[in-house]
Amino acid sequence: MSGIPHDHYKPNSDGEKWLHSRLPIVGLLYDTLMIPTPKNLNWMWIWGIVLTFTLALQIITGIVLVMHYTPDVDMAFASVEHIMRNVNGGHMIRYIHMNGASLFFIAVYAHIFRSLYYGSYKAPREVTWIIGILIYLLMMATAFMGYVLPWGQMSFWGATVITGLFGAIPFVGEGLQTFLLGGPAVDNATLTRFFSLHYLFPFLITGLVIVHIWAFHTTGNNNPTGVEVRRGSKEEAQKDTLPFWPYFVIKDLFALAVILAVFFAVVGFMPNYLGHPDNYIEANPLATPAHIVPEWYFLPFYAILRAFTSEVWVVQIASFITGGIIDAKFFGVLAMFGSIAVLAVVPWLDTSTVRSGRYRPMFKWWFWLLVVDFFALMWLGAMPAEEPYATFSLIASAYWFAYFLVILPLLGVIEKPLPQPATIEEDYEAHYAKNVGGTKTIVEPAE
Ligand code: HEM
Repeated sequence: MSGIPHDHYKPNSDGEKWLHSRLPIVGLLYDTLMIPTPKNLNWMWIWGIVLTFTLALQIITGIVLVMHYTPDVDMAFASVEHIMRNVNGGHMIRYIHMNGASLFFIAVYAHIFRSLYYGSYKAPREVTWIIGILIYLLMMATAFMGYVLPWGQMSFWGATVITGLFGAIPFVGEGLQTFLLGGPAVDNATLTRFFSLHYLFPFLITGLVIVHIWAFHTTGNNNPTGVEVRRGSKEEAQKDTLPFWPYFVIKDLFALAVILAVFFAVVGFMPNYLGHPDNYIEANPLATPAHIVPEWYFLPFYAILRAFTSEVWVVQIASFITGGIIDAKFFGVLAMFGSIAVLAVVPWLDTSTVRSGRYRPMFKWWFWLLVVDFFALMWLGAMPAEEPYATFSLIASAYWFAYFLVILPLLGVIEKPLPQPATIEEDYEAHYAKNVGGTKTIVEPAE
């Protein structure tokens, strides 16, 4: 796919020419900032910038926290209390970092579901999507290890439960678990390696974000119509696009400002709302909390993990066929990782030739059901593992898999899509023609 034709940077002064012939860095920045962007992008395209900002926020606040934090089982909890009470502005830095993780996940889920609705994962953007999944996996690992660092009760028991899952893998599980923990149980070696990796991973995420941006700059952005920008000539491309600077920078900054107003209200007035009170009790390996619950952003996958008990017939069949190698615990682990694996391969499961959900009347229903399903799983993940929640979790988990493995492949075959606009310009005119003097024909948009 050839890039969208547009004006490139031309060095003017002698100094600019000197630098450009040695290191074309200004040209790179210029081309990145002035990239032609579909002019019909809606508010669901703001999340990438929110994510980039949050990543920077987490790295900066994290680096300041490290200046006062001590990764040692005897001192970790006390050092966090020290940050909260004695360090100037320490409680604010910590609360920003703590809630910043939640903002990161709110933004990433919005970003992922936006991609699912508008078919942004489809060809030619599969690489952007796969890099996104890798980022998401690293985000989960980073958040999980970060949560262990304050060495509270939930930190300790959460780490024990989650690393225990690796122990469920047949043959290699026990060795793998010992390797992850640095010993037979969650202890100082676990804390120090989690600390080390929690510091490293955000920089790996940064590297992947650069590749992610590189990938979608190569293909050009998707947009709410799913119709590609015309690339025949620069003039044609200009009818479908606007340069990223200043149009989308201003739009994204406005959205970011609104989101940050809400974010700082939470940080200032209800910083512990999303946390668990047990994490203000120092870790005690001899006292298990009544309910071990992960952070809210892990709950949907936690629900899938717990849904497959030994009473479920698929688990019984799997266990029977494999001679007990796949037991309920290992099945749950497979289901949990499988629920993300199906997300990763969605570009190859969706058979529809129409990209955007806007023009897919049947798809829309199933998509919104998936959104409801995701929130249902989130709720179920926080409920005790008993009836009726166990049955609900099983149904909700089954729908998650059915959406990707059965519904999406079938819809492409049986669904009759609505007519799509021929160009982005046409869609844009349909939405905004009224505002430019009413001289254009107004075509009612599909939504
Ligand atoms: C730190 C995390 C991430 C950052 C900073 C980031 C950044 C961005 C940015 C700036 C864009 C373009 C504008 C926009 O759509 O908002 C984008 C597009 C995209 N992202 Fe991400 N992203 C992240 C994570 C993810 C994840 C986890 C996925 C999916 C699993 C994903 C999938 C996509 C896709 C498919 C597009 C293409 C949409 C288009 O072309 O318009 N991203 N990302």
